[in-house]
Amino acid sequence: MSGGPTFADRRRLLQLETLYDLALALYGGRSEQDLLEELVGRVCLVLDPSVAVAVTRDASAGSRASAVVGWPGPEPTGTELLSDPLWRDLLAQGGPLARRDGALAGLRFGEAIAVPLAYRGVFLGYLALLDKEDRAHAGSEFSAEDRRFLESVAALAGVALDGARQIESLEVQRERLAEENKVLRGQLAAEVGGRRIVAHAPSMRRVLDLVERVAPRGVSVLLRGESGTGKELIAKLLHHLSGRGGPLVAINCAALPESLLESELFGIEGGVATGVSARRGKFELASGGTLFLDEIGDMPPVLQAKLLRALQEREVVRVGGEEPLSVDVRVIAATHHDLERLVADGRFREDLYYRVRGVELELPPLRERREDVPHLVRHFVEEFCRRESIRPPQVAKDALALLLEYDYPGNVRELQNLIEGAVSLSEGAVDAALLRPLMGPGAAASGAAGPEALDLAAVERRHIQRVLQLVQGNKSAAARLLGLDRRTLLRRGF
Ligand SMILES: Nc1ncnc2c1ncn2[C@@H]1O[C@H](COP(=O)(O)OP(=O)(O)O)[C@@H](O)[C@H]1O
Ligand SMILES: [Mg+2]
Repeated sequence: MSGGPTFADRRRLLQLETLYDLALALYGGRSEQDLLEELVGRVCLVLDPSVAVAVTRDASAGSRASAVVGWPGPEPTGTELLSDPLWRDLLAQGGPLARRDGALAGLRFGEAIAVPLAYRGVFLGYLALLDKEDRAHAGSEFSAEDRRFLESVAALAGVALDGARQIESLEVQRERLAEENKVLRGQLAAEVGGRRIVAHAPSMRRVLDLVERVAPRGVSVLLRGESGTGKELIAKLLHHLSGRGGPLVAINCAALPESLLESELFGIEGGVATGVSARRGKFELASGGTLFLDEIGDMPPVLQAKLLRALQEREVVRVGGEEPLSVDVRVIAATHHDLERLVADGRFREDLYYRVRGVELELPPLRERREDVPHLVRHFVEEFCRRESIRPPQVAKDALALLLEYDYPGNVRELQNLIEGAVSLSEGAVDAALLRPLMGPGAAASGAAGPEALDLAAVERRHIQRVLQLVQGNKSAAARLLGLDRRTLLRRGF
């Protein structure tokens, strides 16, 4: 007798190695499908069946994954394998089974051995082998040892399947939580100081997304967009999300004459002129917070130079003062102007342009995001009615249609004024007939008015007259509803 390993020894060794490899392979965090394929492949190497199948079911008893090796002709589906009586018998038995002269999913066999794939008493599926292939020393039947091996493999596979399912359900949970988190953060971002920011249009969602990302950074932000598109609102949101403890201080660079603007921005020392007492400027007031430079495109050139210096040096010198005071402000600027044009025309300093344009956010005009209109309408109706403690009126379909097709030269601000005017005048409902006279000439022309609507000037006059009628001749109120300056109204002879 030779002292070398016998065939039986080699087989046992192969079985152990297979179990070991399988244990490693099954814990690789793969999909259930991969797992079954690995399982069937390894088992075939050791036990030499003509056909091997593995199948699993999901919680609702449907088929989840299956792997088939050696099947002659078209392979059975997982559902077919699970509807075979073998599965029912395995469940009833709760353990391995051996069968002779039967069929599995329509395939005849001489011998079959099968084991349930289970973990902690939960049956996940089964593994079945049909007809041992004839091999020189192996005999042509599955041995008791083969069956034991199959059981060991099934036990390992049960643990691995359970692990794979837990990982998968954790992954699903993780995705759901991430989604929830995103929604919550979106809601957070879309609310500032109790005011909701309506943003359904993709272009606005993008703006909010950028706002969230740049808010915590100290970078200067330039907000661009037509008047009424929400620049100031976004500035507030940026500050709100910045985490800066100091205040948000706003200054409108277009509203003040040069000398006043300078002392407003940088402060003034006492005694510069008779009766002037020392005052801190917006820069100092905004220290630790955010300075919002609205309409920066309208800043006089002399002040542009001083502003640039303040931004670069992070210090200001009060009017009439000498000592620079260091300031820590985050600057947000806004303009409706085409700044590049102003730079090209020499009306805006190029160096300042680059200094304030750390990140640029463009607010699209309302006519380019009409999908926001219905949401804004609802928002403004609710907000106004809450503020005024009145019952919100119905907004009729024809009113909404009119609102949707209008171009809003004054953007969201115009829509807000329009809604507030309409709600004020409404008696339970806002319809097109009520709205049309309140809207700019664009609406009257695009509405289903007669051919006379083509004469814009006439339409405009008639429109203004209607509004005046509605507000009983109060020109300030009419101007407000029209989104016009009162003087413009007077200039046009009303
Ligand atoms: N997306 C929005 N959701 C809700 N209200 C908005 C939105 N955009 C603008 N508004 C409102 O419209 C009005 C004009 O916005 P504002 O920020 O002052 O515009 P801008 O500074 O661009 O002229 C404000 O009352 C603002 O609250
Ligand atoms: Mg503004």
